[in-house]
Amino acid sequence: MSVEKSLFLHARPIRVPRRVLRFTHTFGLGGMALVLFMMLVGTGLLMIFIYEPSPERAYQSIVFMQQDILFGRLIRGVHYWSANLLIGVTAFHMLRVFLTGAFHGPRQSNWIIGLSLLFLILLSGFTGYLLPWDQISYWAVTICTEMLGYMPGMGQMLQRVILGGEEIGPATVINFYALHTIVVPLLLVALMTWHFWRVRLAGGVVVPRDSADGPRAGMDYVPYIPNLLLRELAVGLILIAFVLLVAIFFNAPLGEPANPGLSPNPAKAPWYFVGLQELLLHFHPLFAVFIIPAVVAIAIVTVPYQRYDSEVSGNWFLTRKGQSTAAIAASTALLITPLWVALDEFVVGPDGWLPGTPTVVSNGLFPCAAIAVGIVAFYLLLKKYFKASKNEAVQALFVLLAVSFMVLTVIGVWFRGAGMALVWPWQT
Ligand code: HEM
Repeated sequence: MSVEKSLFLHARPIRVPRRVLRFTHTFGLGGMALVLFMMLVGTGLLMIFIYEPSPERAYQSIVFMQQDILFGRLIRGVHYWSANLLIGVTAFHMLRVFLTGAFHGPRQSNWIIGLSLLFLILLSGFTGYLLPWDQISYWAVTICTEMLGYMPGMGQMLQRVILGGEEIGPATVINFYALHTIVVPLLLVALMTWHFWRVRLAGGVVVPRDSADGPRAGMDYVPYIPNLLLRELAVGLILIAFVLLVAIFFNAPLGEPANPGLSPNPAKAPWYFVGLQELLLHFHPLFAVFIIPAVVAIAIVTVPYQRYDSEVSGNWFLTRKGQSTAAIAASTALLITPLWVALDEFVVGPDGWLPGTPTVVSNGLFPCAAIAVGIVAFYLLLKKYFKASKNEAVQALFVLLAVSFMVLTVIGVWFRGAGMALVWPWQT
């Protein structure tokens, strides 16, 4: 087939800047996400033949798959580990895109497509979580749908739509199964195709450039085949080998069969929602599940459409000053977040920061306003004292939020024990 007619060759460029060959340029994270998605589809298609989506049969069908089907345990393991890795890899890909300023100019819309992909991947993980119908999955989904119910106005309705009724039952399994195996994967395929097309339209992966319309003058180009192709194949194969090894040595978890009458203690959301669950321990539900996530989501969606000093992009952390301001932000988050959690838990207590006022004020408005003032002060400090540009200051805020969320997730996963009390990981 001629080069012009090959879809594969159209999907990839003919020549690429030599700089793109460096692994550290993107860490291959977008490509890794694609490989993991393909592994999920492959193993998912095999499991469809065995799995039975009903509360009576689901758990038994998983046990049957693990014990009586050739490679059943391995296939489930690969599916489980790929799904979890995909969530992490996609989040880090998003960080890479942000920290190289790859959301400006021709890539604005791809940032939004990417966010939709992230949303769908989380939805896919969440809907798959329930399917084994064991204690872990049943109660994790219960926690998450309860969190949703706290949303003002439409929360209760959303909860009923997702559950297919008042509580988790047969309709929930069918809903989740249909979303997990058909609706979400099809949407993901369509959006990924669009995402890759937009990467090509933007002239490939971001590289340092002189102007909005092109890479730096005099940039050295090399043919895609074999240079980048071989590197992409190597990363893909190493990733597949890694997932296989992990799945061989670590089984996908399967707890006791779901028991709606007996909640495990502690009952935790899936790890990627534990950061949100942690917020709920510190703030009034209106703030924890609605106002804070909504404000952060709006900030992330609108980030490419802000006015910046310049559209500097292509280098990690944008500039030298960008590196220092990001490091300051990360250190601040690493210090302040655990301090806040400990202070709220051991000093402030359940009555909140302004005892005597309604909880929506003492555990919501007041601490959130204090945090907002802190964030604005941090931004102004970077601008005034460190003479950071808007690009560098916005990047630092993003790093601050991302690291804080990671710290909350680590605390929620490893430092919360019975009754969600703070404990050391070896005491859980
Ligand atoms: C299923 C999830 C995703 C897949 C499979 C995927 C895949 C890719 C691939 C293969 C690339 C090209 C190079 C690379 O960075 O490796 C890319 C670039 C890009 N992705 Fe994603 N992506 C996903 C999610 C996201 C998310 C969550 C965001 C951000 C919110 C995002 C935003 C972008 C942008 C703006 C580019 C262009 C970057 C540049 O030119 O340097 N993507 N993506």
